[in-house]
Amino acid sequence: MIDKATVEKIKDAADIVEVVSDYVHLVRRGSNYMGLCPFHNEKTPSFSVNKARNFCYCFSCHKGGSPVNFIMEKEGISYHDALLQLAKKYGITVEERQLTDAEREAQTLRESMYLANEWAMQQMQEQLTQTDEGRDIGLQYLYQRGITDEAIRQFRLGYDSDGGFALANAAKAKGFESDLLCEMGLLGKSERGHYYDKYRGRVIFPIFNSSGKPIGFGGRDLKGGPAKYINSPESAVYKKNQELYGIYQARQEIVKEDRCYLVEGYLDVIGMWQTGMKNVVASSGTALTDGQIALIHRFTDKVTLVYDGDAAGIKAALRGINMLLDHNLDVNVLLLPDGHDPDSFARTRSNEEFRKYVSDNQSDIIRFKIKVLLDQAGDNPQQRAWAVNSVVDSIAHIPDRVKRDIYIQECSRLLGIKGETIAQATARARQKVVDDLRQRNITPRAESQGQTHESGKTATPEEPQYKPADFPLYPLEKKVVELCIRYAYLDFCEAYDDDDHPFIVNVLEFVNADFDEDNIRFTFPPFTRIMTILGEMLPEYRSTLPSKRAEIEETVARLREEGIARIAAMDISVNRIRHEEQLLEEELKRTAAQMMRDYSIDYPSRRLMSHEDNEIREIATLAVRERYRLSNIYSRERPVQQESDRINPLLPRAMTELKNGILDQKLGKLMAEFRQIAGKGDIAREHELQMELGAMMAKRSLVAKNIGERIICPASRR
Ligand code: CTP
Ligand code: MN
Repeated sequence: MIDKATVEKIKDAADIVEVVSDYVHLVRRGSNYMGLCPFHNEKTPSFSVNKARNFCYCFSCHKGGSPVNFIMEKEGISYHDALLQLAKKYGITVEERQLTDAEREAQTLRESMYLANEWAMQQMQEQLTQTDEGRDIGLQYLYQRGITDEAIRQFRLGYDSDGGFALANAAKAKGFESDLLCEMGLLGKSERGHYYDKYRGRVIFPIFNSSGKPIGFGGRDLKGGPAKYINSPESAVYKKNQELYGIYQARQEIVKEDRCYLVEGYLDVIGMWQTGMKNVVASSGTALTDGQIALIHRFTDKVTLVYDGDAAGIKAALRGINMLLDHNLDVNVLLLPDGHDPDSFARTRSNEEFRKYVSDNQSDIIRFKIKVLLDQAGDNPQQRAWAVNSVVDSIAHIPDRVKRDIYIQECSRLLGIKGETIAQATARARQKVVDDLRQRNITPRAESQGQTHESGKTATPEEPQYKPADFPLYPLEKKVVELCIRYAYLDFCEAYDDDDHPFIVNVLEFVNADFDEDNIRFTFPPFTRIMTILGEMLPEYRSTLPSKRAEIEETVARLREEGIARIAAMDISVNRIRHEEQLLEEELKRTAAQMMRDYSIDYPSRRLMSHEDNEIREIATLAVRERYRLSNIYSRERPVQQESDRINPLLPRAMTELKNGILDQKLGKLMAEFRQIAGKGDIAREHELQMELGAMMAKRSLVAKNIGERIICPASRR
């Protein structure tokens, strides 16, 4: 948990231009900045960054949001981690919580493990290149397998002498804690208490975490012994299901190529790396885990699985795909010619040849699966049914609804089954997947909904607690709430209290007071929450006003000085000077008002957009994006007219529409009841209903007239 004050500090410090600039080359365009969208491929910039609003938005793929949103989306990390990353960028210290003694101890243990590994790694590197045995046996082996000196350096490969005590003795001489090296799996301890080398006679592949710390080792046997590899055990620094071999050497290249190749072994990584395919990591022979996929997803959302084209390779390719799809990755498969593993294939191809082979043979995983399973099933109906089910199951793992639909169509075409049937099966399977994801503690990814592509990652869970479809008034409520999100604290109109003193009512207060009077509540629960939050934040906002005003006054004073100096420098009559000064004062007044206005608009929406609740953040972000889209249309076509200037007709209109919607709903219910009992003899009830209906219709026509003219006096404001 980061404490609230620190969270606010981070959010306030985060500057959208600075944050985005770390990823995108921005060019100033008027008051905005533009660049190539980091979320999709494009050649002409449609990614816009608005410094004043601290907000970014892609006009093409509609992604964007606050600095926190941007980092979450770009890095594929959680809200919490995005805050941490921003804190680091802005040098804000985050005391997440006081560490307990046990935790502090664990931390120092980890530190010393890194140190021990670092030392052992260097030790074994030296053995490889600076001892006769290392050169004759270890280095010889590596060369023979086509590994270059450069790769040996980059991957920090090493060798441990077959004598069996090289590392153990060096540790002793150095005074290194041998027990620690035992814990790391590098040394063993005999019954009589003697330490010996566990990796004796092996070539060493150090394993790094993504920030380059050595966390474990793989040691390859050179003598045809029973264990081809020895690998480090789990330890405080090596959680096998969270790490991938090669990630440290590959990470930048993965980002640059926006794709990650996934292979099985140490030598496959190095082989591909050497031929210039450096965006490659290995799962080290085991099945992929959620943690490993999440690690890849920090750098890209496109993965290519590279396998041998034999039966085992095909089977392996099909094994991990559902989990990759769960994580919203685009997955391709690349099968190598039968009998080749990535290492052997890469060694015999130039970079160009390899790339050509990739582009000719890489195939979308679902298409691949359909083809493989259909081929296998042949004409056997039972096998075919099984194949269809298995494909449907994989499609159900794709979080993006639009993508699912595309595959459903394609699947229907390839399998010759009605799309409707497959869609239904997929929907059923999807429900299971979502339940299962919840159990695995993975937030199901966002669904894309037509145009407004949601900002993904931890955005709205796809089966939200509240489905808008269940709330008939949702669209009408949304219009009002969105205006509140965009303009909550903007001054709206004047009202008079009991003593006839005028006071200013802001948008939020206007809506609340007016709806209170008519006893209107939002039916969609997240909307109610947003209105509550806006209400709760208001005192906080008000308390910041004095210092904001002072800040604006300071700016104005500076502008005044500059203006006066400018006027003084003009060669004009005293009268003209007076006139110029008058103009200047008016201009300054406008500037100050505008600054205040901007502040009141930005304050609540910024906070909602970085709220900790996914649903609220998402609603707010979409609302603000809409303002942004509108403001751009307005500013292009009518330079002066902003949506915020038109809040007066817009807000009452939205409120009226909602009220009418509510009335229509009630009318509908009354009518239904009326029709049911009409002519059945319950004259009294019939009469009652007639009266009610009449009153309601009268009210409906009144609503439009009254709105906006009503004078409101919330008791709380005196
Ligand atoms: N592996 C392992 N233990 C084994 C066999 C394999 O840990 N006994 C892991 C290693 O990470 C290895 C990967 O699985 O890199 C792939 O296995 P394999 O293809 O057999 O090994 P390669 O690394 O390709 O080694 P080589 O080419 O020398 O056979
Ligand atoms: Mn191999």
